[in-house]
Amino acid sequence: MKISIIGGGHVGATCAFLVAQKELGDVVLVDIVEGLPIGTVLDMMQSSSVEKFGKKVHGTNSFKDICDSNLVVVTAGLARKPGMTRFDLLAKNSTIIKSVIENIVKFAPDSMIIMVTNPLDIMTYLSFKVSGFEKNRVFGMSGVLDSARFKYFIADELDVSIDDISGLVIGDHSESMVPLPRFSSVSGIPLVELLSEAKIDRIIERTKKGGAEIVAYLKNGSAFYAPAASAVKMVEAVVKDKKEILPACVYLEGEYGLTDICLGVPVKIGKDGAEKIIELDLNSKEKSALDESVKSIKESIDNISYLFTNS
Ligand code: NAI
Ligand code: 2OP
Repeated sequence: MKISIIGGGHVGATCAFLVAQKELGDVVLVDIVEGLPIGTVLDMMQSSSVEKFGKKVHGTNSFKDICDSNLVVVTAGLARKPGMTRFDLLAKNSTIIKSVIENIVKFAPDSMIIMVTNPLDIMTYLSFKVSGFEKNRVFGMSGVLDSARFKYFIADELDVSIDDISGLVIGDHSESMVPLPRFSSVSGIPLVELLSEAKIDRIIERTKKGGAEIVAYLKNGSAFYAPAASAVKMVEAVVKDKKEILPACVYLEGEYGLTDICLGVPVKIGKDGAEKIIELDLNSKEKSALDESVKSIKESIDNISYLFTNS
């Protein structure tokens, strides 16, 4: 497997390190800042005798080096600063992502794209439209991260092992995301049996603001350990053909009553990428939360439609 990672900043470099440590494939790390990916990778490779990984990581400023990639993880673009929403990143990141995707189409036309750059749902949609790839080959990471945060807060509240927690967050990657306590459990015990409604509501609120909480502490960037681990979980599901059901941002064609939009829903991830969308039987409260989650995405897509209508 050849796995390329575009953007060698916090998330991209951490992804590269995790992919190398897990020996999922050879890695190419691309960034536009001269020297940055080369220095980052030199540092990483110097840990290989300590961490005992044999796969190669190559740092480069040239997109040509991604040729023949099986998978391309896109983390290029700006990250949030305090007070910014993910949507504030829209104008700048959509221009960056359009050019990144054009390079992927040119140099790695048979690859699969895992989008990470924010605003995630819109960047995934833009990538799907600009690439012209089949919909199983373009999907976004956010639900794995949002669910990981949800699960962490549940384990912390109950003081139980994180291994026992099953939790699901769908919807967009914003504060309108949709954590689903009804589809979450602890060792098979429904969450609602273990926590009061008020406590579940508090955990849901903290999950929705999980990214902003970290931005407020870091002040000069956003989270990257959990985001990178979440993206690499998706890479691993593809590389090992795990057929794992993970929340992923995918192009919808009628599922959940939604059309022509990319949104986070449960998806079977395996060697062919987003292999199958799982449709949950949502109740009316969950469905209206999902519909709410869609509103701002549609508006943002309209704002950048000039970038893909002639593609
Ligand atoms: P960062 O600023 O540390 O790294 C971004 C890197 O992209 C920089 O090194 C920059 O030089 C590079 N870059 C910019 N334009 C490029 C281009 N055309 N080609 C190649 N590289 C280019 O930012 P960080 O923290 O790594 O975040 C990256 C993105 O991921 C942000 O948009 C952030 O909001 C998003 N993110 C999304 C998450 C999710 O759940 N989907 C979670 C965490 C971050
Ligand atoms: C996060 O949720 C910034 O989207 C990023 O941490």
